[in-house]
Amino acid sequence: MKLLVILLFSGLTTVCGGNSSHSLPPKLLLVSFDGFRADYLQNYEFPHLQNFIKEGVLVEHVKNVFITKTFPNHYSIVTGLYEESHGIVANSMYDVITKKHFSDFDDKDPFWWNEAVPIWVTNQLQKNRSSAAAMWPGTDVPIHNTTPSYFMNYSSSVSFEERLNNITTWLMNSNPPVTFATLYWEEPDASGHKYGPEDKENMYRVLKEVDNLIGELVHKLKVLGLWENLNVIITSDHGMTQCSKDRLINLDLCIDRSSYTLIDLTPVAAILPKINTTEVYNKLKVCNPHMNVYLKEDIPARFHYQHNDRIQPVILVADEGWTIVLNKSLPKLGDHGYDNSLSSMHPFLAAHGPAFHKGYKHSTINSVDIYPMMCHILGLQPHPNNGTFGHTKCLLVDQWCINLPEAIGIVIGALLVLTTLTCLIIIMQNRLSVPRPFSRLQLQEDDDDPLIE
Ligand SMILES: *[C@@H]1O[C@H](CO)[C@@H](O)[C@H](O)[C@H]1NC(C)=O
Ligand SMILES: *[C@@H]1O[C@H](CO)[C@@H](O)[C@H](O)[C@H]1NC(C)=O
Ligand SMILES: *[C@@H]1O[C@H](CO)[C@@H](O)[C@H](O)[C@H]1NC(C)=O
Ligand SMILES: *[C@@H]1O[C@H](CO)[C@@H](O)[C@H](O)[C@H]1NC(C)=O
Ligand SMILES: *[C@@H]1O[C@H](CO)[C@@H](O)[C@H](O)[C@H]1NC(C)=O
Ligand SMILES: *[C@@H]1O[C@H](CO)[C@@H](O)[C@H](O)[C@H]1NC(C)=O
Ligand SMILES: *[C@@H]1O[C@H](CO)[C@@H](O)[C@H](O)[C@H]1NC(C)=O
Ligand SMILES: [Zn+2]
Repeated sequence: MKLLVILLFSGLTTVCGGNSSHSLPPKLLLVSFDGFRADYLQNYEFPHLQNFIKEGVLVEHVKNVFITKTFPNHYSIVTGLYEESHGIVANSMYDVITKKHFSDFDDKDPFWWNEAVPIWVTNQLQKNRSSAAAMWPGTDVPIHNTTPSYFMNYSSSVSFEERLNNITTWLMNSNPPVTFATLYWEEPDASGHKYGPEDKENMYRVLKEVDNLIGELVHKLKVLGLWENLNVIITSDHGMTQCSKDRLINLDLCIDRSSYTLIDLTPVAAILPKINTTEVYNKLKVCNPHMNVYLKEDIPARFHYQHNDRIQPVILVADEGWTIVLNKSLPKLGDHGYDNSLSSMHPFLAAHGPAFHKGYKHSTINSVDIYPMMCHILGLQPHPNNGTFGHTKCLLVDQWCINLPEAIGIVIGALLVLTTLTCLIIIMQNRLSVPRPFSRLQLQEDDDDPLIE
């Protein structure tokens, strides 16, 4: 029955959808404010962002991918893949076979990125269109020999204004047209690490600045006449949680440094044992009750973090708010990277533009669902990915979306109407036939001559 209702309505929308092809190709600007924890939206004021949302859509929680770090999550957004499938499995990596190293400061070897095809590459290869990037991890690397037609080398010292100026220039004056663009900003991540998210006073100030930047973005798009036709997604890679000097896990208390190579430290440590993996594992397993220790083959399936050579033989996952150290004091008051089922690790997503509904709120999607949605908006054929387009249908104007409670409501409503009608008919029939002990035959005869009574 439910299926029937859905079929019926999707049929209707197809018929009534009309001519949705515009002469202008759809354009999309993807914006990331690094480390924008989902519940900042509830706990602080964002007048500019709220205005943006009022005329667009909001997804309150985006379930991101494990490990909840910057490079891996930004790459999942633009590929729709879990980390084990796109190959950027941490901000610090080591490949045993090639002996190559990767870090935030040494990320330009395409080797690391080539296990996937990001959407800016697909956008340029599938259609006669350009992509542009005012930074985003990977956009200054020739992935599959292709960079965006317009990009900036990463540098945290380039101001937001310059990034915004250049990306809007590219969006306006290029041939073939720029139809996909990215804009990346380091806050509120940097301050979240420095102060910790529980420092209300400092976070209030920083988040106000972030909101002002969103105000500038919208203002600029309006002044340039880009606002009405451009689709804009504002999202982030992960959240942030409070750390403390009282929540340290010191590996030096448990195991000699010479028995392993440390590839990544906290809150997910990647350990490459030198000689005996079992021995290293056994020592770490009993090291501290506030971390989970996994052999690579035993990493829980829900993390989708196992099938890649760049994932090391032993992985340590600290509990929320705990920091793994090597005989050192607390490095930062806020951190992320923890279990992706923790809501403190989740970012949000807001979107505005001709592809999106106006004034619609949605509770949750996965970060890997963003990629198939973006491909749909741009008319691109997505590469195989781990996202589900159906999860984002409710956000899009050209899709019919029906959620379960609504569907049940419609079905119950229809049943009620049908039942009432049936009852009425039966009652009427009974009334008609009460004075007559004989039924149909007589009734039919009477029909020819209703005045007989
Ligand atoms: C749809 O719109 C486009 C552009 O406005 C037009 O060229 C095309 O003929 C229309 N197609 C139909 C089926 O109406
Ligand atoms: C932004 O554009 C200006 C003007 O074309 C250029 O001089 C500057 O180098 C660009 N900035 C970056 C970071 O690419
Ligand atoms: C980025 O840096 C490389 C190497 O330093 C340089 O060759 C290239 O021209 C730069 N690209 C842009 C767009 O600034
Ligand atoms: C791509 O677009 C440009 C400018 O719009 C045009 O000059 C060129 O011929 C196009 N190439 C193809 C292969 O369509
Ligand atoms: C590794 O260590 C375990 C436990 O200490 C021991 O039983 C095993 O024999 C060792 N394996 C090798 C190859 O040395
Ligand atoms: C750890 O630090 C303490 C005091 O700072 C020092 O005595 C100890 O030798 C250090 N241990 C290691 C393994 O570095
Ligand atoms: C994710 O998608 C990739 C590409 O289609 C596929 O190889 C992989 O098995 C998927 N992962 C999961 C957990 O489904
Ligand atoms: Zn980040």
